[in-house]
Amino acid sequence: MNGDSRVGVLFTTVTPPEPRTDSTHVTRARLHRVDARDARQFSAWYDVLHASEIDRDRESRRVWHPDEWRARAIDERAATYQQLYSWGDSVERPVAIGSLEITRDDNHDSTTATLLVAPAHRRRGHGTSMVHALEKRARGLARPVISFTVTESSHEMGHGASRVVAPRWGYTLDEENVRRDIDWPRPAGELDDLASRWRPSATAYEIRSWRGPTPDTLAEDRAHLGSIMPDEAPHGAFGTRLERWDVARLREYERTVDEMGRDLLTTVAVHRPTGQLVGFSDLTVSRVYPDVAYQWDTLVTAPHRGHRLGGLMKIATMRLLERERLATTLITTFNLATNQPMITLNDALGARVTGCSISWARTLA
Ligand SMILES: CC(C)(COP(=O)(O)OP(=O)(O)OC[C@H]1O[C@@H](n2cnc3c(N)ncnc32)[C@H](O)[C@@H]1OP(=O)(O)O)[C@@H](O)C(=O)NCCC(=O)NCCS
Repeated sequence: MNGDSRVGVLFTTVTPPEPRTDSTHVTRARLHRVDARDARQFSAWYDVLHASEIDRDRESRRVWHPDEWRARAIDERAATYQQLYSWGDSVERPVAIGSLEITRDDNHDSTTATLLVAPAHRRRGHGTSMVHALEKRARGLARPVISFTVTESSHEMGHGASRVVAPRWGYTLDEENVRRDIDWPRPAGELDDLASRWRPSATAYEIRSWRGPTPDTLAEDRAHLGSIMPDEAPHGAFGTRLERWDVARLREYERTVDEMGRDLLTTVAVHRPTGQLVGFSDLTVSRVYPDVAYQWDTLVTAPHRGHRLGGLMKIATMRLLERERLATTLITTFNLATNQPMITLNDALGARVTGCSISWARTLA
């Protein structure tokens, strides 16, 4: 299913949308739950997101496509879904927007949130009021910890507004992930050289790649890696616990990625002597904006580290990108600032720092 068919708005330029309201006339602002199926409510919510992302990036970087949010905000029975909120006099005239991520079967300890005040309406108290309202919702959901994720682009890295405001709201910096971009394609011969250096360490492993759903024979093993990913990957003090993944959840994840309008490119490492899946790496490419591909999770299980599997899997995915002739020119990846093995690996693949994503967390009374 291509996201194009269901999208009302396609942004080919980076002109921020006109604000729909003037904050001098915001008189009775309150929190509204946004119905992602309602085109007017959703596009008013999305306009604020879009204006904030353009204000932040100040460059013609691709921002989220509407379907990428809508697909995650519609199915309340999904293992994880996004509740969308707006702040303003009415749901169709927001001055700030946000979200709470709800997990159904696991991690009832915390909720991950976003909060963005429309650039034209900042420093008028809306952020403070909305954060309190979102905390109240999180308390209502009986989640003791709330954490806000914020992206900073290269020009504001280390000094975005949240660095001043979030500590005043009682939040502590929990995680700092650095964003790196890899220009694609790579210079001729570079990947071959790296692969021939790394392959001798990994003779006991088979590397397999595909585009789309996981083959049935590997689905159970791949679901298991999804369960242990939050625990095996480095994370902050408030980081997530084990997740409950089975084949049904894996299929739901694959369906959601498709509904977001993205193609999923997966590479796995199979340990030949045991036939066990010991690593995976997911890359997603938007069908609407294929120029920027996003590196999602990469995991090699602890007993199989040190065999260059992370690098070999990433190279295999890049080869797949080439074979599938996707029009990608940049691969973006986020790594915990302290995850040195992954940073070294990305640097070898030509990555350069272009921003960061930070999480602010607090325990709710
Ligand atoms: C951070 C953000 C939500 C703040 O929203 P806001 O509506 O401007 O915040 P408020 O008007 O409620 O300001 C709260 C306090 O922070 C101060 N403040 C806000 N932005 C500031 C900035 N850029 N630099 C210094 N102080 C700032 C205000 O002066 C105010 O202090 P006061 O109570 O002493 O007057 C907004 O800048 C934003 O959307 N940024 C991008 C996304 C983001 O960082 N989200 C934060 C998630 S934790």
